Amino acid sequence: MVVAVAFVAFSLPPYLSLDPGQSRVPAPDFFPPHFVVLSLHVVFGSIAMITCCLQIWPWFRGRYPRAHRLLGRTYVFAGCLPGGLLGLVVGLATPFGPVAMASDVILALLWVGCTMAGWRMARQRRFVDHRRWMVRSFALTMSIITNRLWGMLYTIALTPQFETTFHGDQVLLANTTGSAAAWLGWTLPLLAAEWWLERGDAAKRRRRTTPR
Ligand code: HEM
Repeated sequence: MVVAVAFVAFSLPPYLSLDPGQSRVPAPDFFPPHFVVLSLHVVFGSIAMITCCLQIWPWFRGRYPRAHRLLGRTYVFAGCLPGGLLGLVVGLATPFGPVAMASDVILALLWVGCTMAGWRMARQRRFVDHRRWMVRSFALTMSIITNRLWGMLYTIALTPQFETTFHGDQVLLANTTGSAAAWLGWTLPLLAAEWWLERGDAAKRRRRTTPR
């Protein structure tokens, strides 16, 4: 929760300024509304991030079930759904090249897909499946943080190769670091979430088959 709040406190202010000059993502010439769409994406993404910290906290869920339902709707309809659809649009207009674009588009579709599946399972009172889809949704929501960590690590690791591997080309370096961070950012947390879910299920299976 602390990391999520710190991330939002750092990321959100430039996009509340209504000043395109504050954007940390260069706007492509062919898409003039880029800053508006990106800013709305960041606002909805921030709502998703903060609400999901409370949603996955077992103590909060157990103590305040009504708040869990209310925040759950906020997470889905004022966070992931609009944030993901706007993420899809900025992803299609990304200045970081086609490899990053492929990652952005798949991530946006998976984010919306897992979240809507989790919401539907709750509506159908299938709470085991609800939990499974929401754990995946949570991993994807938080993956934006690991994306930034990979971006920093790749920038530190690859900048010394600017004149050699990248032939002094700033765009090539930015596209390479951006694309690597984009793919690693969400695939590893999603694999970790699958491992976490599988591990819990395996433990339950073992308990059921072990004779007392
Ligand atoms: C998980 C699904 C998400 C997708 C598909 C997505 C997609 C994108 C895309 C495409 C961009 C523009 C950069 C580029 O062109 O590559 C972007 C920027 C940004 N996104 Fe997301 N995003 C997601 C989740 C989030 C979340 C949960 C937040 C939380 C606040 C967030 C915050 C930001 C910020 C702050 C930027 C601007 C870059 C910066 O200032 O560092 N995104 N996102």
